[in-house]
Amino acid sequence: MLQHSIHHIEIGVRENGEEFVLELCKKLGLYRAGYRETVHSRQWLVRANDWVQLLVTEIRSSPPEQEQQNCAHSDQQRDEAIANDPYLVLWDQDVDEGGRPVRNSVFNVCLTVKDIQRQVERLERCGAKMEKPVTVLSDADGEVKVAMVRSCLGNVVHTLVERQHYSGFFLPGFTSIRRQDVKTDDGYDEIRPPTPPRNRITHVDHVTFAVEVDTSQDIIAWYENAFGMKRFYVNSAEDDGEGFVINLPNMALRLKAFEYWKCAETGVSSNTTLHHHSNGDVGVNDDDDDGCNKLLFVIAESLKDSEPNQVDTFLKDHKGPGIQHVALHTGNIVDTVSRLKQQGLQFVDPPHTYYKEINGMLKDLNMKESVSRLEDLGILVDVEYGNDKTHGDKKAKYLLQKFTKPIFEVNTFFFEIIQRMGATGFGANNIIALWRSLQALLQTEQQQQQHDV
Ligand SMILES: [Fe+2]
Repeated sequence: MLQHSIHHIEIGVRENGEEFVLELCKKLGLYRAGYRETVHSRQWLVRANDWVQLLVTEIRSSPPEQEQQNCAHSDQQRDEAIANDPYLVLWDQDVDEGGRPVRNSVFNVCLTVKDIQRQVERLERCGAKMEKPVTVLSDADGEVKVAMVRSCLGNVVHTLVERQHYSGFFLPGFTSIRRQDVKTDDGYDEIRPPTPPRNRITHVDHVTFAVEVDTSQDIIAWYENAFGMKRFYVNSAEDDGEGFVINLPNMALRLKAFEYWKCAETGVSSNTTLHHHSNGDVGVNDDDDDGCNKLLFVIAESLKDSEPNQVDTFLKDHKGPGIQHVALHTGNIVDTVSRLKQQGLQFVDPPHTYYKEINGMLKDLNMKESVSRLEDLGILVDVEYGNDKTHGDKKAKYLLQKFTKPIFEVNTFFFEIIQRMGATGFGANNIIALWRSLQALLQTEQQQQQHDV
């Protein structure tokens, strides 16, 4: 059984979990693979493949028979049940009268570990708060050890999973949903044949946190101590202390990134490597030694005294720091975005001036994608140059990306679809290019208005 750094990512929805899951499956081309139900919760496992697993959790209101009992007693029972359930945690301090968190949130990046006991001892030495102790769970497919730690960052937790002695499809306690059993009222067919590898979402590329001013340094220190992760530069223009700083009107923020790789001492598992071939294909090899199945986290932090930007919007609507987006990698973003659009997934489109803004960078890049096709689909391009940073440098590498609209009713979490063509950054240049193109668009509109007057 292959192992991966990110085992799954958990999404907490306060109500209508089933409808949410169906929408997610339909629009992102995922399928329901497993289900678990308790008195207090329902959980659905949705998958793109073995490397992209999302767990949707809904904490239920108190059951009717409990509502008739003493309220405090019901609350206590619920809290105890959740405390004793290795898979459940309230993702929000604020709960409504039914005991459900008051907002939706993506809050748990679950990590596969090689030695959970050793990892937990390390966390305890760091003073990290364990939400769940190490618990052994088993069924006919073997044994899994799980634990849960609260991070230093907003409502983010990490479930740890040691599962080398388990051959089941997900985790004990979950019932597999066979794809042929799935039927939906509106006729959406989850039983489609697997899409060719180049067209599908392959793996989680990175997870980005939105954090409060002046907190990124402490957050990175926590992840270094807790998991042995290391900082790395998102861009050659990055400063060690400051990160990659973007300081424009209405857009003042810094980006910092950190990663785990398998040579680190701690036990986060990463013995599978995804190989990115020059033709865009992605292959998996669990026996590779040259690199790692990296666990990449990015921090987006507002600058002090800046005007409100996308990070501040997240902090306000999410009521605190947390996971802002998850980037899903595809081997062919043109096909993937085209398909997801047809399936009804809504994306943020750049202003048409964006492609004029980046045109100079693209003309010598020798891209295999048609720029007009990228423009049609609103796919962003970010270019990374070799050492001399010369435009047209043959060493130039690039990535393609596109962001969805927020998936909840408020402006918080969204997905990114990304395809890497050698570039290792996160599209930092695109933030500037988008800002410039928006400025150009506003200028054109103002000139037009003056002309009309
Ligand atoms: Fe990203």
